[in-house]
Amino acid sequence: MIMPVNLNEVLSSKNRFFIETWGCQMNELDSQRIAGKLMEVGFLPTSSPEDAKIIILNSCAVREKAESKAFSRLGEYKKLKKSKDVLIGFCGCVAQEVGKKAFREDIADFIVGPGRIEEIGDVVKKALKGERVVAVGFPDVRYYSFDTVVRDSSYKGIVTVIEGCNQKCTFCIVPFTRGKEVCRPIDSILAEVKYLVDRGFEEIELLGQTVNHWKDPSDEKKDFAYLLSKVASIEGVKRLRFITSYPRDFSDETIEVISKFGNICPYIHIPVQSGSNKILKRMGRLYTVEEYLSLIEKIKCAIPGVAISTDIIVGFPGEDEKDFEDTLSLVCEVGFSQLYAFIYSPRPYTAATKLKGRVDKAIAKERVNRLLEIQKRIQLSLNRRLIGEEKEVVITGWGKEVGQLSGRTRCHRVVNFPYPSRGGVKFGKSVKVVIEEAFPYSLKGKFVGYVS
Ligand code: SAH
Ligand code: F3S
Repeated sequence: MIMPVNLNEVLSSKNRFFIETWGCQMNELDSQRIAGKLMEVGFLPTSSPEDAKIIILNSCAVREKAESKAFSRLGEYKKLKKSKDVLIGFCGCVAQEVGKKAFREDIADFIVGPGRIEEIGDVVKKALKGERVVAVGFPDVRYYSFDTVVRDSSYKGIVTVIEGCNQKCTFCIVPFTRGKEVCRPIDSILAEVKYLVDRGFEEIELLGQTVNHWKDPSDEKKDFAYLLSKVASIEGVKRLRFITSYPRDFSDETIEVISKFGNICPYIHIPVQSGSNKILKRMGRLYTVEEYLSLIEKIKCAIPGVAISTDIIVGFPGEDEKDFEDTLSLVCEVGFSQLYAFIYSPRPYTAATKLKGRVDKAIAKERVNRLLEIQKRIQLSLNRRLIGEEKEVVITGWGKEVGQLSGRTRCHRVVNFPYPSRGGVKFGKSVKVVIEEAFPYSLKGKFVGYVS
């Protein structure tokens, strides 16, 4: 059937939505889910808030700076609302955190928390009729319609395996804003991966706050190692990754599965947070430095060439110079391929806010700079070892310089290279690149051919 299309209708801002996203990959995916749900009820995306009837702010609460940014962005949109008929929707972790309070303060027309995204189509319909809806909290039964997700890539598909988190890291607001851990049934996960592969996706990333804590809700024996092997066995999955792993839950079986399947990327993100046992204990992290290091040793032995990345919090209450130096030694000992460093930020509801021993801001800043400087040198030296090697690179976009493409190795390293004069350019395509130059945050190479 051919549907008559009224172009003016389609192009008018009457039925356009705009989404602004802050925060982690989980939030990115949530925005893609929101987009799908809004399209289901007849809206189309726009890249400009001025052209939209619905503006969604998908917020992040993990650090104070991100949270205050959310409120300042809402302020901007409220100004726009004065001159234009627009509905403002507040989503994400800050929306969950402030809940109904946000209405009293009149900052949004509707509020949808991360646990209620599936309902956003109905919420918007009600909001259009003038109703003010607050959909926060975490329903017992969760639906996950993966076939409506508006993916931002045609070759990399992100698949949620766990929502929420059951850990009680004393600095972290996530368990409060994303609720208790809910593992998705294996059948649903595998169905999504097959669905993506059938549509040409070659890279799959399994996502969860503690992704390796996953267990099938109806059969505890099916653990993360089992899931990983099942996903890796699906024909058409060329690169498989997973984030974020919790150190204590990293089983020997998982290491074995990674070493066995050639399509599981030798790249693992395992946040350590600190290199001091005293601080790890105060953070409520359930492992010691020694246990972490022995896990890394096991991984390195079983998976040659593996790249390990991490998160570190600097300036946690009680961290003295010696604790920080212990973190530096751990960083030097492991040799992380990438490191995300954060200055501790006190968050509402979290236990760490009651801890004594606040670290002075200037000291924390000086420590984080020192850490990043050391990490920069480590990355440069690790990257230099790759000069002369041929790497399989998936093209992810344009490079920094004109005439360059950019891509990722299987270890998730960024490689820039001049694009081939023949054969065309297709994002998501795998090519062979010989590494010629190394920098701390990227590599530069020469295109030598396509991967068939
Ligand atoms: N398991 C999660 C961690 C979520 S938060 C994941 O999937 O990534 C991401 C990182 O932010 C944490 O690993 C931690 O290093 C940092 N972080 C969390 N809370 C913080 C806080 N209050 N202050 C500073 N950094 C924080
Ligand atoms: Fe946060 Fe710790 Fe969970 S960092 S997301 S409470 S594992």
